[in-house]
Amino acid sequence: MGEARIELLQLTKTFRIAQGEVPVLRGLNLALDPSGITVLVGRSGCGKTTLLRLMAGLLAPTSGRIAMPEGLKTGMVFQEARLMPWLTCEKNVTLGLKRPPPGKARDMLRLVGLEGFAGAYPAQLSGGMQQRAALARTLMRDAGLLLMDEPFAALDSFTRETMQQELLRIRRERGCGVILVTHSIDEALILGERIVLLSGGTAVRDYALPRQSGARDILSPPFLRVKKDILTTMKELEIQAEKEGPSK
Ligand SMILES: Nc1ncnc2c1ncn2[C@@H]1O[C@H](COP(=O)(O)OP(=O)(O)OP(=O)(O)O)[C@@H](O)[C@H]1O
Ligand SMILES: [Mg+2]
Repeated sequence: MGEARIELLQLTKTFRIAQGEVPVLRGLNLALDPSGITVLVGRSGCGKTTLLRLMAGLLAPTSGRIAMPEGLKTGMVFQEARLMPWLTCEKNVTLGLKRPPPGKARDMLRLVGLEGFAGAYPAQLSGGMQQRAALARTLMRDAGLLLMDEPFAALDSFTRETMQQELLRIRRERGCGVILVTHSIDEALILGERIVLLSGGTAVRDYALPRQSGARDILSPPFLRVKKDILTTMKELEIQAEKEGPSK
């Protein structure tokens, strides 16, 4: 990957609903490393999913813009695997592709640890395995940037830990970038090379973490300092929001 960054420039998104307007993003400026792992955190409703959908091109900004490096393909991974129950793993992975390269679906399934499950149906897979299949489906489309919306939130904590390490491994093998939304500060610390805290439609905190090289001790002082700062900031923002009332 070259030097080009993903640039969010004065990005604004306002939803218009029957009751009026819902301003979600309000002039967000961010430059992101397309090959890094950026984690977005922030309280429910602050616009994390909206931001991912804007970056995936599923939504258009109200104003401002997103500049992506040329040729960078994005792929979304959602909280639920969203597999078609009547299709096998392999058919789910290639769904919608006109001419999938022969053998590629099986390669992708192997990459996510589902070797031997190409012919299995979603109902025959555990939650973690379904999420792996969903990841394989996204990788199948050569996404250079994975946009992941709480991808492990529905998993038990052991499966979740495994999937976090698997994601790091896959990312090392594929060299893809990741922008991941999570409600878990620990997950943000385990995975992130950068953590951005969103609130009131902009980025209110931005933490640089070391480059990912595998296992991290998130109980070590540098990580604990970040955790404490995130939690305190979120608490302060909550108190402030309560004082200001429902107008947000
Ligand atoms: N299509 C839509 N139409 C109207 N309002 C929307 C739409 N999508 C999102 N919103 C509103 O935008 C705000 C941000 O929603 P978003 O889903 O981005 O939040 P989030 O940070 O992902 O929250 P959570 O952590 O709960 O997933 C919310 O107030 C939501 O009601
Ligand atoms: Mg969301």
